[in-house]
Amino acid sequence: MATRGNAMWGGRFSTKPHELVEAFNASVHFDRRLAMHDIAGSIAHVRMLARQNIIPQEEALQIVDGLLRVRAEIEAGDFVWRSNLEDVHMNIEQRLTELVGTVGGKLHTARSRNDQVALDMHLFVREEVAIVAELVQRLQESIVDCAERHRDVIIPGFTHLQRAQPVLFAHHLLAYFWMLERDRGRLADAGKRADMMPLGAGAIAGTTFAIDRAFVADELSFGALYENSMDAVSDRDYVIETLGALSVIAMHLSRFAEEIIIWNTAEFGWIELDDAFATGSSMMPQKKNPDVAELVRGKAGRVFGHLQAILTTCKGLPLAYNKDLQEDKEGLFDALDTVKAGLALFAPMIATMTVRRDVIARSMERDFSAATDLADDLARRGLPFREAHGIVGAIVAYCVNQGKTLTELTQEEWRTLCPAAPYETLERLTPQGCVEARAHRGGTAPSAVAEQLQMARSILSDRGAPGAR
Ligand code: ARG
Repeated sequence: MATRGNAMWGGRFSTKPHELVEAFNASVHFDRRLAMHDIAGSIAHVRMLARQNIIPQEEALQIVDGLLRVRAEIEAGDFVWRSNLEDVHMNIEQRLTELVGTVGGKLHTARSRNDQVALDMHLFVREEVAIVAELVQRLQESIVDCAERHRDVIIPGFTHLQRAQPVLFAHHLLAYFWMLERDRGRLADAGKRADMMPLGAGAIAGTTFAIDRAFVADELSFGALYENSMDAVSDRDYVIETLGALSVIAMHLSRFAEEIIIWNTAEFGWIELDDAFATGSSMMPQKKNPDVAELVRGKAGRVFGHLQAILTTCKGLPLAYNKDLQEDKEGLFDALDTVKAGLALFAPMIATMTVRRDVIARSMERDFSAATDLADDLARRGLPFREAHGIVGAIVAYCVNQGKTLTELTQEEWRTLCPAAPYETLERLTPQGCVEARAHRGGTAPSAVAEQLQMARSILSDRGAPGAR
């Protein structure tokens, strides 16, 4: 049959695209990242076509064979990607046809690139969220190990970045364990939404061929399939959810990074980063900078930006597929790479940092972080807490004036300042006494933190070693 028009779009077109259009439209320079999923999806599709007698079995085998050869070329780095072929799908199909002849043209029977790209993206996201979840787990393990190694270390806990109450360093670290645990939950949720099979939607309305979508879903181990073809090709909610989950991880990491940076200053001196996770200055020879932590903190911005971008792209888009949706990829890819790198670096950075117990212990001296405990003690003696709060506030003000700590008050001073309680009350106002007093579930007492650690450990071991699933 004679064909007119351009090589790409066939008879409807009389000229080839303007060179600027070609470059603007092309996505192959980034969507080639989906190549392996594209081929896996095509193999499942073509098997289904043969099973349903839509194409002959013999031809399906030729196509599968050709797709495997294309895959081998890509894996070997021999594949030539061509932007005039627009995207990963057309590049692969074109090469397939070069390899197996015109029968390659049957692969696209009962399929559109709209459902094809949706399939690729679902496969990709499903795989990636599992990889991120494993990296999250590795960081959780690193945190639990570090908490365990420093179970006896007490630090001042902060609110408003002002000394508040003494807490176990392990308690502080484990706070991040639980944040990351919820991050895993969010990733798993996004993974569930990605575990849906869109193929068969065609361009918008389905296909006139008697396809078997359940077979394709089974071949690709999908847990569910889309019940509406227009939904299947046009929604990117699973991408948005993934970027949402990644954004929360990036936010959590940025907070942890900020603390690492603060603790690592000469002013704090609580930790020292291993040389392998610090960098120098080109001008100041004495500097050892926490660049990794700073970059993790900084890169949260671009992850949030990608979430905002895809939300904005999808906002107000009419059904069904629109080319706007091609914008779902680069931000997602970048956010994944960014968060994966941050997680991968954080785990060994935490594992190798030195916690300077002596400096931390010294920093616990001469502060008023036991003031709440004193007020609590007065409240236990029957004083309304508000009143107790007022009395202790006045005592602290007196001490500040006198340049004393609470425990340095004399018996005489105490009797005038606080006749409601015996002088011995002051004995319990040590950092150790303060943490031990908070022994309920979720509190910072060594006993409660031991239980917390136990729980964290069993969560991790129930899931098995990363990669074991
Ligand atoms: N590159 C496209 C994307 O990522 C593939 C689907 C193109 N479909 C179309 N009708 N132009 O969305």
